Amino acid sequence: MLSAARSSILRRTFTTNSVDGFTGAIGNTPLIYLKGLSEKIGSHIYGKAEFQNPGGSVKDRAALGVVRDAEQRGVLKPGGTVVEGTAGNTGIGLAHVCRARGYRCVIFMPNSQSQEKIDLLRMLGAEVYPVPAVAYENPANYNHQARDFAKDLPNAIWTDQFDNTANAKFHYETTGPEIWEQTKGELDGFICATGTGGTLAGTGKYLQEKSGGKTQIWLADPPGSVLTSYVTSGGKLNERTGSSITEGIGQGRITNNLATFVDQLSGAFTVDDTKSIEMLYQLLDTDGLYMGASSALNVVAAAELGIKLGKGSKVVTMLCDGAYRYQSRLFSKQWLKSKGLEDAIPEHLKKYAVLD
Ligand SMILES: Cc1ncc(COP(=O)(O)O)c(C=O)c1O
Repeated sequence: MLSAARSSILRRTFTTNSVDGFTGAIGNTPLIYLKGLSEKIGSHIYGKAEFQNPGGSVKDRAALGVVRDAEQRGVLKPGGTVVEGTAGNTGIGLAHVCRARGYRCVIFMPNSQSQEKIDLLRMLGAEVYPVPAVAYENPANYNHQARDFAKDLPNAIWTDQFDNTANAKFHYETTGPEIWEQTKGELDGFICATGTGGTLAGTGKYLQEKSGGKTQIWLADPPGSVLTSYVTSGGKLNERTGSSITEGIGQGRITNNLATFVDQLSGAFTVDDTKSIEMLYQLLDTDGLYMGASSALNVVAAAELGIKLGKGSKVVTMLCDGAYRYQSRLFSKQWLKSKGLEDAIPEHLKKYAVLD
């Protein structure tokens, strides 16, 4: 028998409007109307506030998607191990999800990554193995090491975020429906950059299907990625030029996640770092939004798509994460100069670059 006090505590828990732990707090992020930008260009631009996920980025969705899929397929059982090769937000999302679900989390990453990233993952309870930073073709590459580590271990999975389509499926089941509901189905365009391709493929597929093809789905690309060339040439070319300061986006190949939708895209274009950096500072100045570079690139792209689609059009993009993980670079005068980006920031916004 429960004591009267304990049963009243339980009752209160069940009647409050709460979510179920860390994983229950993933998704259902707000859709932010970017008023200043929208007024300037005459189209309505919205950013999906993925930085509000409990682990701080859009990748919380992919992390939960791949873990939940493995649980449902019965290949990950209580007390099991989750292994991934990642240097970024997916590792953070997985580390959180693993703590919340009671799994061991093992992350392989190139040893070229900052100590801050390694420390953060370890603080979140993950085991981190920095390995030599070698090309994908080399068997010692961090992705292959993650795969091999999981293969030899009982009750362990390699989550394989790039080619495991449970990633895109999670966006199809959550991000897409959320945006559809938030825009009441009045949406002319959706655009974002891709790393694994999970966000664009899953969300894009849902929105395109639900709108009966009315919502156009576009891919935004940083310099140095092959995807613009691939999409605009109808899959014939794989050219890349330049490089980018953005992190988590840009690709050298068509991942399985992107492959689920790449043929249905309306188009793709590349956004230069100068425009992304200017937007990053602009969003902070006019909207109070402290965004990472991939989000800034997405907003530039959404504005360009809005202009393409005409006055009054409505376009949604993703605000993937905040600037907190990159601030020592994005707000450093020295670093911006070393990348030739100091002049990308308009004079009146230079005051935000407070770090030397
Ligand atoms: C900051 C950031 N933006 C965008 C993306 C791209 O998302 P996706 O992997 O779903 O294509 C990532 C992926 O790691 C990311 O870390």
